[in-house]
Amino acid sequence: MNIGVLTGGGDCPGLNPAIRAVVTKSISLGYNVTGIGHGWKGLLEKEVRPLTLESVHGILEKGGTMLKSSRTNPIKMENGIEIIKQNMKDLELDALVAIGGDDTLGVAAELYKNGVKVVGIPKTIDNDLNATDFCIGFDTSVNIVVDAVQRCRSTAESHSRVLIVEVMGRHAGWIAAYGGLAGGADCTLVPEVPFSIEDVCATLQRRFDSGQDNAVVVVAEGAKPEEKDDLALRNKEVDAFGHVQLGGIGHYLEKEIKERMGIPTRAVILGHIQRGGSPTVFDRVLGTRLGVKAVELISENKFGYMVALKGNQIEPVTLDKATGVNRKLETQFYDLLQLFSGERS
Ligand code: F6P
Repeated sequence: MNIGVLTGGGDCPGLNPAIRAVVTKSISLGYNVTGIGHGWKGLLEKEVRPLTLESVHGILEKGGTMLKSSRTNPIKMENGIEIIKQNMKDLELDALVAIGGDDTLGVAAELYKNGVKVVGIPKTIDNDLNATDFCIGFDTSVNIVVDAVQRCRSTAESHSRVLIVEVMGRHAGWIAAYGGLAGGADCTLVPEVPFSIEDVCATLQRRFDSGQDNAVVVVAEGAKPEEKDDLALRNKEVDAFGHVQLGGIGHYLEKEIKERMGIPTRAVILGHIQRGGSPTVFDRVLGTRLGVKAVELISENKFGYMVALKGNQIEPVTLDKATGVNRKLETQFYDLLQLFSGERS
């Protein structure tokens, strides 16, 4: 058995523990492992190398992905699926482990329908894959966000300012909600609920009226203002999966709050800091468990699944069920964010 492993889409902390687990488990079963570079691009271009225990030595605590990543979409390419099937044959790959988010695992689902033996592992700091409670990378990311929110609070206090912290989260507000709740933000804006700038100012005003002289707002990059065509705020460039490059909603809020409230306001865009650095314990253990389970499924000849965290168990769910529709923030979190906004925080 020769198992190919790749990481696709945006990187995140916890990918290396998952790769290490795939290699360690495979070798314990007597299988060979082939590392595929740069996600689906590496399979299209045969960028491969054998992985041994030696190759994964020391990567557990390292951020990023030793295999490198890209946002290549073979489904959009002419004969992309056929090329991948042929290359798997040429490279003598019997099965694939694809570690990725909705885009990468969406490709995996399509390949499975076309006869490729593939198992997926969920990763994305956005935490928006369906059918798993958590994805690799989310926990590390929100810990970085909470640290940033707390740092913004102390400088906001010193200068009696409003600090806006823009975080990632394209379709779903998991990072913003967890970061806002755990960091004690006064207002948290998520992509699922379009916001009115007037309501945001009213929330902040309540806080100032209650005697506070500073505020911290957490906003997801995908949050949309009701009053404005949000695409106007954004870069129009799209990637291979049709996603616009986000970023800028924090500066929009900064300008509006400054103008409407007359309070000094600063915006901080956390950006890729949220995707860098060493994984937390949670992400190391999650990556390890998911990697091992993926190889177990292959050893049982089970394909077309994503390994998922359900409660405290790692279970297979079909790739079809896991992809296609993003997992939105649950409404219970809106209520929590509401309760801890404005003067109450
Ligand atoms: O991985 C998802 C994500 O973190 C999104 O929240 C964000 O919009 C995107 O990646 C940015 O990725 P990149 O700059 O690597 O294209």
